[in-house]
Amino acid sequence: MDTPLDDLEQIGRVDPRGMLDVITTLPESAEDAIDSADKVDLKLRRFKNLVVAGMGGSAVGGLLLRDWLQQTSSVPIIVSRDYSLPGFVSRDTLLFVVSYSGGTEETLSAFEEGKIKGAKIVAFTSGGELEKRAKAAHITIYKLPQGFQPRAAIAHQLLSLIVAAKKAGIAQDSWWEVREAIDVLKAMREEMRPETPQWSNPAKKLAVELHGYIPLVYGSRIHEAVAYRWNTQLNENGKSPAGSSFIPEAFHNAIVAGEADKELLASVCAVFLIDSAEGEHLASKTRRFMDILKARFGKVLEVQTCGEGRLARMLSALYVGDFVSAYLGVLYGRDPSIVESIDRLKQG
Ligand code: PA5
Repeated sequence: MDTPLDDLEQIGRVDPRGMLDVITTLPESAEDAIDSADKVDLKLRRFKNLVVAGMGGSAVGGLLLRDWLQQTSSVPIIVSRDYSLPGFVSRDTLLFVVSYSGGTEETLSAFEEGKIKGAKIVAFTSGGELEKRAKAAHITIYKLPQGFQPRAAIAHQLLSLIVAAKKAGIAQDSWWEVREAIDVLKAMREEMRPETPQWSNPAKKLAVELHGYIPLVYGSRIHEAVAYRWNTQLNENGKSPAGSSFIPEAFHNAIVAGEADKELLASVCAVFLIDSAEGEHLASKTRRFMDILKARFGKVLEVQTCGEGRLARMLSALYVGDFVSAYLGVLYGRDPSIVESIDRLKQG
């Protein structure tokens, strides 16, 4: 055994709360989430915009929903990560309030503002104050299962949002993509799970490559939330600094980082999420972008998306990042589940 990532006992010692197990069973969590969400009786009225309010790991489901439905939704989907809601929120707004713990102050504040503005609110939570307040106000609750780290409940969060969005009439045409995405994740997971040795495990290999580097993650517009998810998972599970941006926006700013001092760039690693469904023009411009970074950055890595539908392509790239972030935590000897600084700041 020549790598710590093939030592399952060592993984168990660094990851005693089982972040890697939760990631490994993500496809089944997605199926469970669909079953539970289908049972929720959701009564809606006509709405002109959908706002998803949440913070951190509980905002990611909304960001993914936004990117997935970007080209098909008849209404704008806005994700609000703040104490207050956008000014346009009104009785014409469908407001999904998401807080895994139910205790996040920014999200509770957005919930209260949504009530005052008369928005149609739906809550997504595992309990806490949000559940209490939603019950008191007779607001529909999608109950998320307890016992997860908020970010690790992504399958439950995203799939509940998707089921609710379908009920709201904005995701029904893309529904076939959900089944495809889950099948793609099931197939990918066999390659990336802890039992699969590093020599044939792409996620372990990537984590080893990133060990000691600062990752900057880039993807095209459909992968904006996915690149951001990589960023935040590398922060929280991997205890690593990280950044992310999306293409083509990155052509107009992030590319200039390649002009920085070479010594500074030596420990920076760019990770490109490559989607073969992108058109030729964007693909070739992205190659030129990568070539510029290759000449200057410590490393440039590529991750290929899988599947046909937009959702499978997004979630396949996300799934690699989730595994990589937890393996990176193990390599740094840090429990992927523990986020001490977030907890300290929340406690005030
Ligand atoms: O992933 C995490 O643990 C955090 O980013 C939380 O999601 C964030 O602090 C918000 O908490 P909650 O998801 O419980 O509303």
